[in-house]
This record gives sequence, structure tokens and C-alpha cells, in this order.
Amino acid sequence: MAWEGPPPPYRIETERLVLRCYSPDDAQLLSDALNSSVDHLKPFMPWADELPQSVDDSRALLRRFRAAFDTNEQFVYGMFAADESELLGGCGLHPRVGAGGLEIGYWVRASAARQGIATEATRALTRAGFEVCGADRIEIRIDPANVASLGVPQKLGFPEEVRLRRRLPGRPDEPLRDAVVFTLFSEDFKGA
Ligand SMILES: CC(C)(COP(=O)(O)OP(=O)(O)OC[C@H]1O[C@@H](n2cnc3c(N)ncnc32)[C@H](O)[C@@H]1OP(=O)(O)O)[C@@H](O)C(=O)NCCC(=O)NCCS
Repeated sequence: MAWEGPPPPYRIETERLVLRCYSPDDAQLLSDALNSSVDHLKPFMPWADELPQSVDDSRALLRRFRAAFDTNEQFVYGMFAADESELLGGCGLHPRVGAGGLEIGYWVRASAARQGIATEATRALTRAGFEVCGADRIEIRIDPANVASLGVPQKLGFPEEVRLRRRLPGRPDEPLRDAVVFTLFSEDFKGA
């Protein structure tokens, strides 16, 4: 399902971060961030089973992300340090939660965890989702066991809307995981 409204910006600058649409030239930085974070990512990111990831594989993935950005399929961003010398994580706005809704996803490299990076990036994507894309609601879906991730929407004041059983895609050999859905509607967005 492609997003039918205006797309978000290719580049967003926050206090400490540059969020931008990936370029294939970011492949080395992506492999470094992912391959140094395998144990950190594996518990809740099934795709981490495929790590380590070669630079060539990262380049191919980034080309797909870039293409999908330009066709409004999903808006995947690298979270870069302000001088863009290091990739601190990834995040995105995903039009996969029904009409008018954008879902935010995120991961942060192990060495940058617990420094408020995911919160800072999610705050910026929330604003872009409402103010630029014209979303009616922004959702964040989290496994209830993922305590670190639950803290992000909670810090940003997203209300917890519902708990859904067996809803999150997981590993092929595992049952689906439950999801806590946090939803912020446009009329409740305070511009934080
Ligand atoms: C979840 C994740 C993205 C959080 O990123 P982060 O940049 O470390 O998060 P923040 O520093 O912005 O933390 C925000 C709040 O979340 C909670 N939190 C974050 N990490 C935590 C931890 N390890 N233990 C307990 N609470 C934690 C805290 O309430 C924190 O606020 P505080 O530091 O002021 O107490 C990161 O741990 C990660 O990449 N995990 C693996 C991938 C993943 O689970 N992605 C989310 C899928 S839904």
C-alpha cells in the first residue's frame, strides 16, 4: 500500500541527528552499525538472524529503500550522527496500518543505545508525519516484552490504544508475537 499524501522530506535535522533517505554510498556505515549490534538486535528484530551483512548486501538493500522512498511505498531513514560520519540507527514511516495512518519503526546501534536517540528520531518523524504528510494518526507497534522500545512512545506521550494478540511477524518457526499499539491522532499532536 503506497502512501497517497505528500511524502516526508528526504532529510531532517534534529538537535543531534541527521535523518535522511539512504544513499547506496552508506553501505559501509550500515554494515558497521548492524554487524556491531547483532546480539542487541536479535531479540526483537527477526531480520537480525541474517547478520552479519556484507557491504554488497547493504548496498543492494539501500537501493531498494531508496526506490521505495520515491514510490511512497515506505520512507526508510538512516539516523546519522550530526557530521554523518557514523550511522547510529535506522527508522522509518511505513504506510502499512490502514488509511490515513503511518507506522513508525526504529532501531539503534548497540553503542548508541540509551542516549535518547530513538526518542529524538521518533519525535522528528512524528512531526513530519503530521505536518508534512498530513497523516491522521501515527502508530507504533511493540512486542510487550520489548521494554526498551515501550519507553519511546511513552516518553513522547503516545497513548496506548490496544493490545493485540499474535500480531507481529516473527521468525518462521515461532508463533506470532503480541503487539501493544500506541496511537497518536492528529488532533492530539501538540507539536512536540
Ligand atoms: C528500542 C530501541 C530502539 C531504543 O532506542 P534508544 O535510543 O536506546 O532509546 P531511548 O534512549 O530514546 O530511550 C527512551 C526510553 O525508553 C526506555 N528504555 C530504553 N532503553 C531501555 C532499556 N535498555 N531498559 C529499560 N528501559 C529502556 C527508557 O524509558 C528510556 O528513557 P530514559 O533513558 O529517559 O529512562 C533500542 O533499544 C533498540 O535498537 N533495540 C533493538 C531493536 C528494537 O527493539 N527496535 C524496536 C522494535 S518495536
